[in-house]
Amino acid sequence: MSAKGIKASSRKGIVYDFNYMMSEFVGKEHGVTKAELDALAPRAKKIHAELSEKRRSGALAFFDLPYQDTSKIKALAREIADSFDNFVVLGIGGSSLGPAALHTALRRPFHNMLTKKARSGRPRIFFPDNVDPVLITDLLSSLDLERTAFDVVTKSGGTSETMANFMIARGAVIDALGKGALKDRFVAVTDPQNGNLRKILEREKYRSLEVPPGVGGRFSVFTPVGLLPAAVSGIDIDELLAGAAEMDKRTSNAGIFDNPAYMAAALQYIADTKKGKHISVMMSYSHGLKDVADWYRQLWAESLGKRLDVNGKVVMTGQTPVKAVGATDQHSQVQLYVEGPADKTFTFLRVEKFGADAKIPKAFKEMDGLAYLGGKSLSELINAEQSATEIALMKAGRPSVRITLPELSAYTVGQLLYLLEVQTAFAGGLYNVNPFDQPGVEEGKRLTYAMMGRPGFEDIKRELDNIRKKEDGYIL
Ligand code: PA5
Repeated sequence: MSAKGIKASSRKGIVYDFNYMMSEFVGKEHGVTKAELDALAPRAKKIHAELSEKRRSGALAFFDLPYQDTSKIKALAREIADSFDNFVVLGIGGSSLGPAALHTALRRPFHNMLTKKARSGRPRIFFPDNVDPVLITDLLSSLDLERTAFDVVTKSGGTSETMANFMIARGAVIDALGKGALKDRFVAVTDPQNGNLRKILEREKYRSLEVPPGVGGRFSVFTPVGLLPAAVSGIDIDELLAGAAEMDKRTSNAGIFDNPAYMAAALQYIADTKKGKHISVMMSYSHGLKDVADWYRQLWAESLGKRLDVNGKVVMTGQTPVKAVGATDQHSQVQLYVEGPADKTFTFLRVEKFGADAKIPKAFKEMDGLAYLGGKSLSELINAEQSATEIALMKAGRPSVRITLPELSAYTVGQLLYLLEVQTAFAGGLYNVNPFDQPGVEEGKRLTYAMMGRPGFEDIKRELDNIRKKEDGYIL
């Protein structure tokens, strides 16, 4: 038994299978050759040394998150779960996609519809990560505010979408319950020192947890950003971190063939830069993992989509990540994937043992087109569909990898997310860009501030006022 009382043998490793990325299966034009991978070895060694050095210096704090003490997070989560029926996460981008991915993967699909008893006393959870006015007003008017806690999540402490929704929710609580109700109902997850949210939470005495300095939004799923909502809804966050730690071990080698994260990055990099595969589709054949694909979309896009490399040279790098869900999107996207432009790689997510299964009854025996389904299970069907799609793509020369989770558990999801984070950090090295900044997002934020009249952004406002007016002739 391990320290957490879980048999080590029940903790299973995820499997990274890249056969169908290789030229032996999809041909040299589309597939990666072993020689191409071998040629990256010296660069891999150098990038590994740089990442390790930055890790040692504390500059890449995300690497060490699996080893944190979670007692404060669990204590706050327990208090919230004991006192409230609803928990609303107010965040956007990296401050919402991670916790949403964990929730969809590791809680029951209709969690919010279950009785409190069936939710094991845990609150319903909501992620209104947009400023569509209908979304927040409808949510606030649907909830009993007396029984609702709000988790305001913003590393910078000032993102306009999050802060606007926070101010609306705060106003609604004041209107319904009075100012005295704020202290218990709002918790904040933000930078330990900086930002407006930090000032507000100190002034209004909200309980709070910190986003550790040096961890960027899209790498923050293993901080209180992801862990607090997970713990509130009853996910075993220590198991999640144990899975991440296990993947840390598996991704600690410099050799591409000994490191699934480096291999994953190298394959995508070669496919993109040498084989014209500028689109990277993540297709989850598990409904539970569909929001992992959303989280990964941000991770891959914001980290690698860069105009300048680290030397300031214009490079305009980055694959376009696309999310797809199997089997649903077989009836929507796969026609394009098999026969359309050969500009994509595919990453399949597959679960070997689902948390529940459904046997298809033996009915309509007289109809050959249906009888074959009788007696089979839905897990057999969905996994057969995954294999079939993968093979159809391989036959059409379309490269893919398959990541198999033996089961959907906190331990395997922890491994998967950590793998994808290390893959992304290493890919930054291959592309020679900084995977930890997001100047393009910052520009959009600044333009929004200017449009909304934030002091200090008058210059940008003037620049906006001088932008060439749209032509009426181009508007129908
Ligand atoms: O990855 C990132 O840094 C961004 O996507 C941020 O998470 C997003 O912009 C939200 O920022 P903040 O947490 O400061 O509100």
